[in-house]
Amino acid sequence: MTTVLFASPRENGVTDAVTRVFLDGRDAVFFDLYALSPAPCTACNFCEGAARCAKRDLDGVFDAIRRSDRLVIASPVYNYSFPAPMKAFFDRLQVFYHHPAAPDPGRRCALLLCAGRTGVYASDLMRRQTRVAAEELGFCLTDVFLKPGTDAESGLTPSEEAALRELSAGFFIPAS
Ligand SMILES: Cc1cc2nc3c(=O)[nH]c(=O)nc-3n(C[C@H](O)[C@H](O)[C@H](O)COP(=O)(O)O)c2cc1C
Repeated sequence: MTTVLFASPRENGVTDAVTRVFLDGRDAVFFDLYALSPAPCTACNFCEGAARCAKRDLDGVFDAIRRSDRLVIASPVYNYSFPAPMKAFFDRLQVFYHHPAAPDPGRRCALLLCAGRTGVYASDLMRRQTRVAAEELGFCLTDVFLKPGTDAESGLTPSEEAALRELSAGFFIPAS
């Protein structure tokens, strides 16, 4: 089962196009982070003892992720990091910080990023954030795709699309 965490506010933006090519029609449980608008973590520390978050708005997302063996995080770069709803989601993973899922190399996470600029981005930071979050959730961040330069050209070039399709084909191969 595949869970997608989609963090662009634009329904038909570049992140959407990249996600569609990556999924290539495969079934996935899709969560729109802007629609969900996760409540921010308030550091109440309830999760340390209770092994669940005191807030219940992400229960469905956490359930889907627990049942998944593929996790796709698709996001634009906003001010060198993730848009606010995705950052709120990461902060809400405190429960998994206190009670991490068992690491499983067969559970793979892919990070799909779109950036307006070319050259220097914050994707290193975003990779690190995602790697740690994925590990707490019991996944391994195995694949990262960055579509740069969308301020100038929003479409995928043929070589970008080919690279994305190749990444996708490898990502969805079932663990043996
Ligand atoms: C609030 C905001 C902040 C942004 N910050 C950055 C940035 O730091 N670096 C960058 O390369 N692009 C930045 N961008 C551009 C977006 O990453 C780019 O337009 C991306 O393609 C948007 O994806 P979408 O088409 O799915 O909305 C920013 C855009 C917005 C609206």
